Amino acid sequence: MKKVLLLASGSGSNVENIINYFATTSHDISFEVIANKKDAGVFERAKRLQIPAHYYPKSRFENGDFAQFVKNFQPDLIVLAGFLLLFPADVVKDFPNKIINIHPALLPNYGGKGMYGHHVHEAVLANKEAFTGITIHYVNEQYDKGEIILQEKTNIENCTTADEIAQKVHELEYKFFPIVVEKLLFG
Ligand code: GRF
Repeated sequence: MKKVLLLASGSGSNVENIINYFATTSHDISFEVIANKKDAGVFERAKRLQIPAHYYPKSRFENGDFAQFVKNFQPDLIVLAGFLLLFPADVVKDFPNKIINIHPALLPNYGGKGMYGHHVHEAVLANKEAFTGITIHYVNEQYDKGEIILQEKTNIENCTTADEIAQKVHELEYKFFPIVVEKLLFG
């Protein structure tokens, strides 16, 4: 069985979408969720989907607790889906090429510290970009700098608000993120 660790900080709609996607396949796969915010919406979703979920505050990412959890869990893949902390370097070293992230823009544009969620879409709107999109990439020690696995674009010339852009980006995320996870795990 493949074991996947899903990390989130907020709503967790991508987490739910990935779990639901695999429920429609015959793959032997199990999930656990970790979130660094006690009131993250992802906990409600995990409960509903009957997936184990754990709260790890920032301090437990910094003091080695999280690294120990990952060592015990031995995941085949770690998926960052709306996870906002810098991922601990010791875990990156232990699990090379087994950690991926989704970024809601076309990296290297609109990436780096502070560029998350609505900040990204506001900046894209302010710059009157004709296109935005998603980037799925490996995670290394720096924010949004790991090797790119997949990018998909969407035209946003008709979007007048950051919310509209966010919705178009979410559509791409929901379509492509589960497929990339599946490809990495099952070829
Ligand atoms: C997504 O847009 C993701 O790309 C970004 O944060 C958002 C998370 O949304 N990193 P959700 O928690 O999956 O609903």
